[in-house]
Amino acid sequence: MQSQLDSALKEAADAAGQIRTRAELEALKARLVGPNGSLTLVMRGMATLSKEERPAAGKMVNAAKAQLDEILATVSARVEQAELAALLGPTIDPSLASPDVASGSLHPLTRTRERILATFRKLGFVIAEGPEVETEWHCFDALNTPADHPARDMQDTFYLPKSFRSIDALRKGDEDLLLRTHTSSVQVRTMLSRKPPLRIVAPGRCFRRDAVDATHSANFHQVEGLWVDRHVTLADLRGVLDFFVKETFGPEAETRLRPSFFPFTEPSFEMDIRSPNLGRLSDRWLEVLGCGLVDPKVLESCGLDATEWSGLAFGLGLERIAMLVHGIDDIRHFYANDLRFLRQFA
Ligand code: DAH
Repeated sequence: MQSQLDSALKEAADAAGQIRTRAELEALKARLVGPNGSLTLVMRGMATLSKEERPAAGKMVNAAKAQLDEILATVSARVEQAELAALLGPTIDPSLASPDVASGSLHPLTRTRERILATFRKLGFVIAEGPEVETEWHCFDALNTPADHPARDMQDTFYLPKSFRSIDALRKGDEDLLLRTHTSSVQVRTMLSRKPPLRIVAPGRCFRRDAVDATHSANFHQVEGLWVDRHVTLADLRGVLDFFVKETFGPEAETRLRPSFFPFTEPSFEMDIRSPNLGRLSDRWLEVLGCGLVDPKVLESCGLDATEWSGLAFGLGLERIAMLVHGIDDIRHFYANDLRFLRQFA
């Protein structure tokens, strides 16, 4: 009998190592303690033993059963572990070092934009936004730019096919949609949606049908500024822009306003700067932005009484500022995603 028990235990121990699933575990149990299991048969055999033989045989069987339970418990725990692991998916060890330890950094244009916005925030300007797909009216008409103005030419502006009509355009009638050529359209949207006094800066992407070269890109970025209040003057314009230039190019930077023309400002200026911090460009005047006092016609297009309200506006090219600050000589670097360029700003 002991040898029968031993062989049943050996069978259990040998099979135990192979078992991976609950079904296999149940099959093993059936082979040992099922109705025709090897251990069941041994126990049934006890009925043929004499009264004297039974206690010793009972002890042997109990000992064998205890050993068997232990084997089955071990296998059962392993199967449960395997089931849980399958449920949780591949195991990871969160204490191991990540193979990808390099951290990213902001794109130089993003950093320049954030710096510029932070500067104007100090002067009480808040951020405004407008759509990149714009109506002709918001981009040109409301900004006092007549239908025959060269900027509206098909050669300069990306017009969208009629099928791209937005709800906005449909409501306004039969209007052409275009990719905005400047962020000045956000001036219009802001004055239409908010009551003055207001001070906003509007960063955003602009589009022009320019041939790409070192200083032109069909896709570029601007930051627009608008301040509408009672009695806004050229002194305010100078004050705001001088502050911006000194924060961006250093306190030694000088500024000058050169008379110019934009349809939406009167008078209009280009602002030049000169700063000793600009390396080989330190000794020259450099054009950095367009600005002026908001033309009364623009205020009126936006439903404001031009005898009560006045404004100043400016628009700068983000790429141009970033190129001057960092001494970058080709605008295409910003869009090439070349890590050798980008890592220099990390
Ligand atoms: N919108 C002009 C451009 O894209 C830039 C500009 C000039 C914006 C004068 C202004 C401004 O707000 O007052 O060239």
